[in-house]
Amino acid sequence: MDIQPPSIGVLDSGIGGLSVLREIHQLLPEYPTLYLADQAHLPYGPRPADQIRAFTLAMVRFLLSQGAVVVVMACHAASAAALQAARERFPQVPFVGIEPAVKPAAAATRSGVIGVLTTQATAEGIFYRRALARYGAQVRVLTRLAPEWVLLAEQGAADLSQAQPVIQRHVQPLVAAGADHLVLACTHFPFLASAIQQAAGPQVQLVDPGPAVARQAARVWPGMPAPGRAAHHYFTSGAARDFESALKRLLGVDAHVEVVRWRGDGLEDYTLSLAG
Ligand code: DGL
Repeated sequence: MDIQPPSIGVLDSGIGGLSVLREIHQLLPEYPTLYLADQAHLPYGPRPADQIRAFTLAMVRFLLSQGAVVVVMACHAASAAALQAARERFPQVPFVGIEPAVKPAAAATRSGVIGVLTTQATAEGIFYRRALARYGAQVRVLTRLAPEWVLLAEQGAADLSQAQPVIQRHVQPLVAAGADHLVLACTHFPFLASAIQQAAGPQVQLVDPGPAVARQAARVWPGMPAPGRAAHHYFTSGAARDFESALKRLLGVDAHVEVVRWRGDGLEDYTLSLAG
């Protein structure tokens, strides 16, 4: 593949970041994008922060080598582990991270109780701790780890009736405790939104930071005009076919997906390159 025009690079462990990419496509239809999914290492949630950081920094290097001029970490786990390091390592690159949307939920709650649905790496990460310290004092914040949902979203099981008990198991205790806002603090979860809403009931508001992240990507775009015709490219370290069907299912996009391979085995040595 040729080097791409200046693009917005978007990364995630898997298909989750597509929930952010669709907002970017909607807000900035004329901007070229590159999307990279590290499905070889999915899920990130249970992994230690230094490993997530090493994978993420290698993904950043790959996206920059392909023409990214803005990098969106469309993954809460990657942002928590690597955003700061990426800004230090690549000071010339504008980065957009994503963090649990505790602030808008705490501002909007009427019951005084909000639920945060997330994974372990994010719950233990710096952004969540900071958000709790800043905005969590006036409200009750209930944290619920829902790592199974990452796999549900990857498998496209949101519509299947067997997914509902797994959704219900995490939503029910939060709603029973009075939560009127549920923060989706994992980018995979917006793809389960209809099942989550069904389990929570119509009075509960789901909070997805995706649109705000897209607006931030527009703000930090470094001034150069976007080419008239946007091209979008997709890469995965997993299986191209599966990712192609996910793109069709989740975004209605027919696209060819390129495979990337990991090399290196030390935390500092990882690199990604195009397969074949
Ligand atoms: N989608 C990612 C997030 O927002 C990661 C999910 C995972 O791989 O555990 O955190």
